[in-house]
Amino acid sequence: MTTSTTVSPTIRVDKAGGPEEMKLVDLPVGEPGPKEVRIRHHAIGLNFLDVYQRSGVYPLPLPLSLGNEAAGVIEAVGAEVAHLKAGDRAVYCGGPPGAYSLARVMPARHVVRLPDSISFETGAAMMLKGMTTQYLFKRTRPQEDLVPGDFIVFHAAAGGVGLIACQWARALGLKLIGTAGSEEKCALARDNGAAFTINYRTEDFAARVKEITGGKGVKIVYDSIGKDTWDKSLECLKPFGLMASFGNASGVVPPFAPVSLGPKGSLYVTRQTLATHIATREAMQAMADELFAVVAAGQVKIHIGQRYALADAVQAHRDLEARKTIGSSILTI
Ligand SMILES: NC(=O)c1ccc[n+]([C@@H]2O[C@H](COP(=O)([O-])OP(=O)(O)OC[C@H]3O[C@@H](n4cnc5c(N)ncnc54)[C@H](OP(=O)(O)O)[C@@H]3O)[C@@H](O)[C@H]2O)c1
Repeated sequence: MTTSTTVSPTIRVDKAGGPEEMKLVDLPVGEPGPKEVRIRHHAIGLNFLDVYQRSGVYPLPLPLSLGNEAAGVIEAVGAEVAHLKAGDRAVYCGGPPGAYSLARVMPARHVVRLPDSISFETGAAMMLKGMTTQYLFKRTRPQEDLVPGDFIVFHAAAGGVGLIACQWARALGLKLIGTAGSEEKCALARDNGAAFTINYRTEDFAARVKEITGGKGVKIVYDSIGKDTWDKSLECLKPFGLMASFGNASGVVPPFAPVSLGPKGSLYVTRQTLATHIATREAMQAMADELFAVVAAGQVKIHIGQRYALADAVQAHRDLEARKTIGSSILTI
């Protein structure tokens, strides 16, 4: 018998601001439209993206239900949905926020079937972060393409995206130079495949990258820190290198003058976002299949560092913003 969740506890903000703006409220769930599904969550992923959306760094219409990633069981599908059916184990990322909830209705094209070998918790912990790593390594490439043996710089290497990136880079034969905010985090990144680590709270990471690469620099820097690391990240690049900016955990990068990229070695700069890469269901499925394959092969293991009850989302955000978390965090139902 198919279940039907009609009311869902949901974390919502009525106004943008600090973690304390998050409130647990009961919301009606409703029936899916033709291209939608209703999914009942078993585990929910926590992402730094949720912080930007909560705080208003990425402004969204209010009131706003938070959350961009979860795993669970499909309860109902719309008439035009062919790739999912009621009872399927499923996982998703992206689309309209609203994952911090027991159940929700959402566009089906963001949802894929979750392989039986992957638990709900692992699915919720890996989807948004793993899909991001996939597009960073496979679809965000420097002009001089990456080849095994190349050095790359990856910031926040012990974070949710970071620990997946350390392992995936190792599987691709790339020598990942990871930065992290403590010696413990650096050790964890190395345990997960980083070839070198730098504690960027205590060391000049650009100088260390030059040292590690014999003065050459790297073809690409993956920078999710933003304001605090921007200038030094550019210093890590070799001529024609690519600055791949994909986040702003320390604050948004202020405007900069493109003319400054010339003397630094005719550098390239891009700002990437997952939403562009998963704009079609086909792309979403292809990227997910690749992610599932590296997880099934044991090349990438998902490290869940923290678990919080849905009702404790405020504490989860506090910890994430205070740089207290390692690996992925999930909200449990
Ligand atoms: N554009 C996209 O498509 C996309 C998709 C997914 C994620 N992202 C970005 O990738 C980054 C990682 O995401 P995540 O969810 O896995 O988070 P996370 O890496 O688990 O957490 C963020 C980490 O950033 C580091 N950090 C450095 N300065 C910070 C500051 N001032 N405040 C807070 N944290 C700071 C901290 O690690 P240390 O203590 O080691 O410095 C912190 O643990 C985020 O910036 C996120 O927005 C972007």
